Amino acid sequence: MPEPSHRFLRACLRLPVDRPPIWIMRQAGRYLPEYMEVRRQAGDFLSLCKNPALATRVTLQPLERFGLDAAILFSDILVIPEAMGMNLSFGTGEGPILDPPVQSPLDLQGLRQPDPEKDLGYVMATVETIREQLADRVPLIGFSGSPWTLATYMVEGGSSKTFSRVKGMLHDRPELLRGLLDRLVEAVTAYLNAQIRHGVQAVQIFDTWGGVLGHDEFLEFSLESMRRIVQGLDRNGPDGNRVPVILFAKGCGHHLEAMAGSGCDVVGLDWTTRIGQARERVAGRVALQGNMDPAVLYASPERIRAEAERILTDYGPHPGHVFNLGHGIAPDCEPHKVAALVEAVQGFSWGGGQA
Ligand code: CP3
Repeated sequence: MPEPSHRFLRACLRLPVDRPPIWIMRQAGRYLPEYMEVRRQAGDFLSLCKNPALATRVTLQPLERFGLDAAILFSDILVIPEAMGMNLSFGTGEGPILDPPVQSPLDLQGLRQPDPEKDLGYVMATVETIREQLADRVPLIGFSGSPWTLATYMVEGGSSKTFSRVKGMLHDRPELLRGLLDRLVEAVTAYLNAQIRHGVQAVQIFDTWGGVLGHDEFLEFSLESMRRIVQGLDRNGPDGNRVPVILFAKGCGHHLEAMAGSGCDVVGLDWTTRIGQARERVAGRVALQGNMDPAVLYASPERIRAEAERILTDYGPHPGHVFNLGHGIAPDCEPHKVAALVEAVQGFSWGGGQA
């Protein structure tokens, strides 16, 4: 298999790089005035996701501003439940609504398995348009939500603070939840494989809500379904390169070894873990992505630089570090703070190169 030349793909595969690559979760979004402008043109967020030309434009916006080392497909994790037949809407300021919530075996039977080429054809068109316009300057990352995280939105009918319905289901009707997770494993695997066929060069699985589960529940109800997806991905990209898989589970630093054993190439860390210790724990089995607290971007540029350098130094001069935040960037972040972060990471040097 050929060795990739892009530093982001090289770092994912733990190959030596000149400096660690950086991209930022939710790098295209409401903190950028130019994003707000295109969203206005599209009408609303979901129409923006479904318009390949405009979705491509917002994907490229943060790259034009900051010179990041990777692009991420502009879309949302909730397009999967929508393609399975649920009604999806984003009320202003209220977060997403999925209607009607999945609460019975009958609701589960009513869901269909999406055909990614047909039901999510607009995503595939966006992937192709982005790749054309990127012209190989940086790699394109595709993504999906994890089955557990998608199930929380589908069972709760939207966002939740307590996860009472989905956790009630986990304990009282585990076979119903397992049935839903099985459907999602199949849908997500097919969806990510389609993204790979259409040109994404890496994929990330977002398990935003893995950390709300108890220890054994995470392993059984979240990690196991992600492991099955990782095993089902066709990681030989159409260009012959290996397509790295990144697993990001928020609040799951204590499951690092288990995640590293899932078959993924990279584990994404939130900011509650020390990345230097995490590197020792995974012992070269996977690369690590992260892990600056997004709230550091509310501090001064000097403080941001110091924190970025602390993380880079803590990881040390070893291959396999992809710099990122520990979660998505906040809508009220000032863009010049992101510029300060990117400059700090791009200006960082080990002098002698990587060990
Ligand atoms: O990273 C990127 O730049 C790519 C785009 C992306 C979006 N959502 C765009 C978006 C990605 C990777 C996601 C993933 C996503 N969506 C996750 C997992 C990642 C995470 O942050 O943990 C989750 C849980 C969702 C579900 C979702 N989408 C919620 C809960 C919301 C509402 C949040 C809010 O603050 O209003 C969204 C909307 C959403 N997805 C926006 C964007 C840019 C904001 C929509 C807008 O423009 O109004």
